[in-house]
Amino acid sequence: EKGGYDWFMLKEIEEQPEAIAATLLGRLTDSGEIMLDEVRLSDQDLRDVDKVFIVSCGTSYHAGLVAKYAIEHWTRIPCEVELASEFRYRDPVLDRSTLVIVISQSGETMDTLMALRHAKEQKARVLAICNTNGSTIPRESDAVLYTHGGPEIAVASTKAFLTQVVACYLIGLHLAQVRGIKYADEVAAVVDQLQEVPGKLRALLDRIEPVRQLARELKSAPTVLFIGRHVGYPVALEGALKLKELAYVHAEGFAAGELKHGPIAVIDQGTPVICVVPSSAGRGMLHDKVVSNIQEVRARGARTIVIAEEGDQAVLPYADEVIYVPRTPTLLAPLVTTVPLQVLAAEIAAARGHDVDQPRNLAKSVTVE
Ligand code: M6R
Repeated sequence: EKGGYDWFMLKEIEEQPEAIAATLLGRLTDSGEIMLDEVRLSDQDLRDVDKVFIVSCGTSYHAGLVAKYAIEHWTRIPCEVELASEFRYRDPVLDRSTLVIVISQSGETMDTLMALRHAKEQKARVLAICNTNGSTIPRESDAVLYTHGGPEIAVASTKAFLTQVVACYLIGLHLAQVRGIKYADEVAAVVDQLQEVPGKLRALLDRIEPVRQLARELKSAPTVLFIGRHVGYPVALEGALKLKELAYVHAEGFAAGELKHGPIAVIDQGTPVICVVPSSAGRGMLHDKVVSNIQEVRARGARTIVIAEEGDQAVLPYADEVIYVPRTPTLLAPLVTTVPLQVLAAEIAAARGHDVDQPRNLAKSVTVE
């Protein structure tokens, strides 16, 4: 049932183009409208929203962190992202016009479920993004958007993450359309770009072999750091989480701009630093800032492994290795840049002799608080 793969995780990584296509299926019209009637929140409800919270755990939390950039940009509604295990213990400000989006692959995560119940007690509207039909979290929510990613067996979340990001984006675009925002052209363009993502992912996965090779080289590294800015920052956090949970290697993700405020001190001769570089189109400044951060870590002895878009020559002087990914607009970039990090973590774990699908100390769904 692993379809010829050694591990479910590798199969699930390969399934990502189809998983994203499934999340989009039937939800976009030819004229670029987002169709989310299934969500059961009226247009009036959505127009009344004045604050969005995204609440989740682990990889699902990272999906929320990515989504915040897009939702705030498209809708101009303030959006906060919070770990479910922290959310309800700090008395968050919630009322009828707050939309709480809970994200959970399994739909059974206890921390997320308790946060959901707290939000409902405070009269907020709760919308679940979930991959598991009929599970507890969507059943207790006011509304649900299923990701339709198909079963995810490996403990490490891969296709669920990408489909969660896409589902959040559909909600953000829908909110923007319902509320009649000023970025109508941009929203239409994003709808087109989203539909190109599965093809781009296929192309990326078809030439992923160099990442496997790199994994074998990195297998003995005692620590691996990940840096990124903007949506690349949560991608860095996700890359580090994958490596920790699968390879049992110390790994940390940083906002690239924070390095000089402390973390750069840990960089030693040969420390691998995986650098997630944004597109040079559009937000060019962001790109140049990350390139200078790469320069800084390299000057301290880091071995720099750079994830950049095809054709980006500017990174070459500072990169020990470059992994090129298809060109993708900044907000959609996490849908491609995350994939080499998933492969890297799985292959390092395998090279170290670990069970890639069932890492020690972890369960697929965490049903205790
Ligand atoms: O089922 P959920 O999405 O609620 O699970 C949340 C986390 O437990 C989960 O994403 C966990 O962090 C993964 N093992 C990460 O790969």
